[in-house]
Amino acid sequence: MNKVKIIGTGSYVPSKIVNNNELSHMVNTSDEWITSRTGIKQRRISEGEDTSDMATKAAIDVIKSAKIEANDIDLIILATATPDSFIPSTSCIVQKNIKAVNATCFDISAACSGFIYGMDIAAQFIRTGRFNTVLVIGAETLSKIIDWQDRNTCILFGDGASAAILQSGNEEEILSIYTGSDGSKGKALICPAIPVNNFCANPGISLNKSTVSMDGKEIFKFAVKVLVKLVNVLLTESHCDLKEIKYIIPHQANSRIIECAAKKLGIDSNKFYTNLDLYGNTSAASVGIALDEVYKKNLVKSGDKILVVGFGGGLTYGGLIIKVI
Ligand code: UT7
Repeated sequence: MNKVKIIGTGSYVPSKIVNNNELSHMVNTSDEWITSRTGIKQRRISEGEDTSDMATKAAIDVIKSAKIEANDIDLIILATATPDSFIPSTSCIVQKNIKAVNATCFDISAACSGFIYGMDIAAQFIRTGRFNTVLVIGAETLSKIIDWQDRNTCILFGDGASAAILQSGNEEEILSIYTGSDGSKGKALICPAIPVNNFCANPGISLNKSTVSMDGKEIFKFAVKVLVKLVNVLLTESHCDLKEIKYIIPHQANSRIIECAAKKLGIDSNKFYTNLDLYGNTSAASVGIALDEVYKKNLVKSGDKILVVGFGGGLTYGGLIIKVI
């Protein structure tokens, strides 16, 4: 089996900042409520860039950081719940934009766990020798599927993209990966697509409005439960102790979820790296943006271990432990 290295990370967020006070002019909310219930202070919102545009910018950033050429990339896996179109896939649009002419491209749908699912798929392809250099992207334009009249959801989300390039190497950088799903709870977080409304189906089916709705409390409970489970499973599988982990990078959904999980794990919540105050919940982009920040701010050095965990719609969850080379 080949060993897997992460040879670069990248990210991109739109320049438009929308703070909590601005949202309080749109729905009945306040900076105080949003900050105390979620930890979010502001988010980035697209002024017209679509998912492929942000994904392309994150891809250009990671190619630079990995010091490779676009035509070295064999595979592009793009995780998103907000693709530009049903066809073509957003990964194919990115391929065209960055001229990664030798890549096979496909999108995956695992909501906020998408980046981790993508890393898992990439690692398996590299281990078996099927592909050598894989670009993983998590990118979302959540602002296009948010109901901006719904204060339960519109305060939570932001737009952005993140990326990593994985390659076969001499040393193993991914010590353990674990993923899971629970489709039975899927209704807790939904955004409908087009219903079957062809001439053979029931006439008169109206087109759904494709906006997000969520049972926040159900997701909150699920998130705390799987976050604790993921940390324990990943540590066991990699024979690591929690003390050896420099940072836990969680999906950036809610600081109270992180505090509850920290309490259950018996650790200080400072061990969790967060930037949700600045970006809100960017779904598939979230953990990758945080990972990129950790690398670019030189917060880790060779030998440090990082535990990355995600959870979200599906319901889905997953995580991995990285040993920085
Ligand atoms: O990416 C994965 C996805 N999602 C998540 O991880 C989200 C997980 N869930 C959460 O983060 C939290 O459940 C929320 C932040 C969404 C909600 O926090 P909560 O503490 O569970 O609030 P709640 O839904 O129980 O609402 C409490 C009250 C309600 O009013 P009443 O019924 O007590 O009068 C809501 O109507 O707060 C009200 N409320 C708001 N008030 C001001 C709900 N949203 C807002 C708002 N501003 N934006």
